[in-house]
Amino acid sequence: IPVDPFDLVIFGGTGDLARRKILPGLYRRFCSGQMEDNSRIIGAARSEHSTEEFRQMVADAIAEFDPKSGTPEMRAEFLERLEYVQVDALGDAGWQDLAALMSPGRVRAFYFSVAPSLFGALAERLHTHGIADDQTRIVVEKPFGHDLASAKALNADLAAHFDESQIYRIDHYLGKETVQNLMAVRFGNMLFEPLWNAQYVDHIQITVAETVGVGGRGEYYDKSGAMRDMVQNHLMQLLCLIAMEPPAKFDHDAVRDEKLKVIRALEQVPLQDVVRGQYLAAGADEPGYLEHVENADSKTESFIAMKLRVSNWRWAGTPIYLRTGKRLKARSSEIAVVFKETPHSIFGADAGRHRNVLTIRLQPNEGMDLFVTIKEPGPGGMRLVDVPLDMTFAEALGPDAEDVPDAYERLIMDVIRGNQTLFMRGDEVEAAWAWADPLIASWEERGDKPVAYESGSTGPEEALALMHRDGRRWREIRA
Ligand code: BG6
Repeated sequence: IPVDPFDLVIFGGTGDLARRKILPGLYRRFCSGQMEDNSRIIGAARSEHSTEEFRQMVADAIAEFDPKSGTPEMRAEFLERLEYVQVDALGDAGWQDLAALMSPGRVRAFYFSVAPSLFGALAERLHTHGIADDQTRIVVEKPFGHDLASAKALNADLAAHFDESQIYRIDHYLGKETVQNLMAVRFGNMLFEPLWNAQYVDHIQITVAETVGVGGRGEYYDKSGAMRDMVQNHLMQLLCLIAMEPPAKFDHDAVRDEKLKVIRALEQVPLQDVVRGQYLAAGADEPGYLEHVENADSKTESFIAMKLRVSNWRWAGTPIYLRTGKRLKARSSEIAVVFKETPHSIFGADAGRHRNVLTIRLQPNEGMDLFVTIKEPGPGGMRLVDVPLDMTFAEALGPDAEDVPDAYERLIMDVIRGNQTLFMRGDEVEAAWAWADPLIASWEERGDKPVAYESGSTGPEEALALMHRDGRRWREIRA
């Protein structure tokens, strides 16, 4: 279904995110017929370019990041929709040109794909130059703050010029197909919700494993680390969707109210329940973390594992374990809900211990598995095995599953539609920092150094021990 005609301005339109994700994503939505004829995309940045040069840059980006979609004609037509203006975020140059480009009567959205230090200046200038009205939407990228104080300051900067209903804070994990499926599975089936609590769930594991290192992002990353870069936002959002109460309806504030309650119910994590690691070099060609960030004394973690407790009626006594890291064995993100054992085994001790597990795979190979215990075939008596009921979307849904939009393209279309459900509200972001800050301060105050782990491994041994001492183990990280 096409969305209403829009003017989308991308500040930082020549930057890396715009080239890799935003513009190729918009192109795919164009190919699928979602962009009405007169919708336009306007690149805005500090550097001087003609619209022709910008179109060429976007053509190159599409060729590099999405060579398969559409036809040469579609590509040419899409490029026609693009404009470029040179704008100085901190000065006055270019703003009148931008104002002149905007068309009346259309949805106006401004994507701030720039450093957060510019958010306030851009928000202000959109008003002083008469470009924004009360229907205008702005989209902001992470990192949304470095701690609670900076997140509050950013929220205040934006709130001085825009209403909360106009602000779309992106966490691209919320745009991933499986993440939304998590809500469909929980709240669209009778089967799971009655069991989705501490009485039946032994524990939950959330793993986001990456094979990449910090590469060229060392400067940013060394000031953040896995806690700020991944846990405070992406893993926190996954945790919220897994742990929240059913919202009364699938509506932006109903969903976000429930997520906020989960964050506020998180207990402070004692340091003995946290493991932080740094990856080692792998041979001469693959530098270790300390070489990547060019700081031999760095105490920043590229891996973190922790045990969390959600202090409420539903989850009291059921821990949630999180882990995420770079340069691990495989790129694999998975949530596993591990149910308790049956209260009594009628098959005796020989049948072994069995647990139902629901796994939700975010990437790769999106889908879900429900492990159920059955009898091993054959005459050998009542021997039990766990087998998966496999819900790999690509297999279960056929070609439709291949057409799944990338996280960014879905989220940008939601901005145009005015649907904030999959965006973070200001209070959510602040609550997540309010939880993260004291934990980060506790290891910083002690000057703790992360432990080393091998590149291509599952992370430090200590992370395995974190589970072992509770009589549990992590699920395997596999591609
Ligand atoms: C980003 C982080 O937000 O998410 C990166 O800054 C990380 O460090 C990336 O690599 C992971 O996203 P995805 O979609 O590849 O899992």
